[in-house]
Amino acid sequence: MLRVGVMVSGGGTNLQAIIDSINNGTITNASIEVVVSNNYNAYALERAKNNGIEAVCVSPKDYEERAMYNDELIKTLDSYNLDLIVLAGCMVVLPKELIEKYKNRIINIHPALIPSFCGKGYYGLHVHEKVLERGVKLTGATVHFVDEGTDTGPIILQKAVEVRYGDTPEILQKRVMEEAEWKIMPQAINLIANGKILIENSFVRILD
Ligand code: GAR
Repeated sequence: MLRVGVMVSGGGTNLQAIIDSINNGTITNASIEVVVSNNYNAYALERAKNNGIEAVCVSPKDYEERAMYNDELIKTLDSYNLDLIVLAGCMVVLPKELIEKYKNRIINIHPALIPSFCGKGYYGLHVHEKVLERGVKLTGATVHFVDEGTDTGPIILQKAVEVRYGDTPEILQKRVMEEAEWKIMPQAINLIANGKILIENSFVRILD
């Protein structure tokens, strides 16, 4: 059984998609051991509690120095003996030490087709604003392993979504979530939980 920790910052619709997928059998061989938020007000924490999952908040605001927050975050995650950390709308910059310690064991969902519309400053609704500004006809979502860079790790799954005339950032965000994020995130976890993923250099191979 893959022991999963989910890191969140906000609404937690991706977390909900993972919970639902475990409950309906779309994800097998995995259990969510803890949900960790950097934000006390994240609705994702309620979603976890409503589903009987441990919900913890480690907020950088509670620590004078970033290093102290980093230590506490790592200590908290370590205490659950996790096989996989899932960043599901997690808006904190992860400590370098955490990324090294959990190499190839942290995945993230990004709301665009990497390497487009990603990197520093591209998160949440901003991504969709930039997509609309540029006028691209296709966008989508990407699940990737997390490395030291911002959105630079090996890509696991991607799904394209159409941009339509008249879209607002909010409308586009909703379509990208419904048609891509809530599908490929659970799919990626299921592949990992069932040993179907190999990382060869920076290329992810999916086994049948
Ligand atoms: C999602 O769209 C996710 O892709 C994005 O934040 C949103 C969180 O929504 N993540 C990033 O932008 C990370 N760079 P949620 O809390 O409802 O899952």
